Amino acid sequence: MEENHSIWIEKYRPQRLEEMVGQTKIVERLRSYVKSGSLPHLLFTGPAGVGKTTAAVALAREFFGDSWQMNFRELNASDERGIDVVRNQIKQFARTTPLAGATFKILFLDEADALTSDAQAALRRTMENYAQTCRFILSCNYSSKIIDPIQSRCAIYRFRPLDDTAITEEMDRIATREGLTVEPKAKEAILFIAQGDMRKAINALQGAAIVSPTITEQKLFEITAHARPDEIEDLLKAALAGDFEGAEALLSTLLNQRGIAPLELLHQIYRVILDRPMDRGLKVALISRMGEADYRISEGADSEIQMEALIAGFVQAALERGTKG
Ligand SMILES: Nc1ncnc2c1ncn2[C@@H]1O[C@H](COP(=O)(O)OP(=O)(O)OP(=O)(O)O)[C@@H](O)[C@H]1O
Ligand SMILES: [Mg+2]
Repeated sequence: MEENHSIWIEKYRPQRLEEMVGQTKIVERLRSYVKSGSLPHLLFTGPAGVGKTTAAVALAREFFGDSWQMNFRELNASDERGIDVVRNQIKQFARTTPLAGATFKILFLDEADALTSDAQAALRRTMENYAQTCRFILSCNYSSKIIDPIQSRCAIYRFRPLDDTAITEEMDRIATREGLTVEPKAKEAILFIAQGDMRKAINALQGAAIVSPTITEQKLFEITAHARPDEIEDLLKAALAGDFEGAEALLSTLLNQRGIAPLELLHQIYRVILDRPMDRGLKVALISRMGEADYRISEGADSEIQMEALIAGFVQAALERGTKG
């Protein structure tokens, strides 16, 4: 029956709440709504790829069974067709009677934090007016961008980045189903690349599997345009030893030959520095420089110059601390 999607994030998207990994408290509470047959409005917040959409769809499937598609609708608040279209569709859906004996419908509104506060005020009225026939599940990355009157009408669920155990469990499941051999170092690489985001993990695995069913660390870092931690370590070592030319050459290889985007590389260096044992004052100085580079690049400054300046800043920070002892 099941269609063989070629995209693994769809193919392996859990259909039932109990199939989700991690987020155990959240899943438990959502299942209790299904058992009791009642549901408040919900607000899901949290970073990308941690199961917000997955949980909403699975919840609807369990609530409505076969009629879930009639009674469940997913809309994206940042839809390019405009907020008016979304608003009309929300009203249209919310006010019509639930089908197939359901007592209410569920409307899932993704990226709700893209709505202006005016639009949120209108949404709040719709939520009130049609609460009898429709429950809302709002999803966003930052709950602080949702107006208080909406927050106070919702049960709030804070999704966390998935931990290593959860990601490993899902990777093992997919690897078995796809007949892959994942080398131990490659498993670590997936965790490093994903940073708690299952979508990133699955996409990395699929990307590497297209090349060969034996998944290696090397392949993963190549296809995801990630610097390997040892490459970043080499770059840091050179810069902190005051070898600007050496560090600059490594930087240039990563940016130009490997094609890693400057901002992406900046984040990767940041993660390595955070975990790296080193003099506290030096770590603080480096992170402060990274903050400046991040800001300047995001404001549109030339990213290559900023990355060079960052490396120069690292050299400088190391030298300063060296002379001060
Ligand atoms: N907890 C989980 N258990 C199993 N698979 C998961 C989990 N979370 C995410 N996934 C996988 O990652 C993919 C992306 O997850 P999902 O669409 O639910 O992310 P999201 O939290 O809605 O992210 P976004 O904020 O980007 O919309 C899913 O298709 C699913 O395969
Ligand atoms: Mg989503």
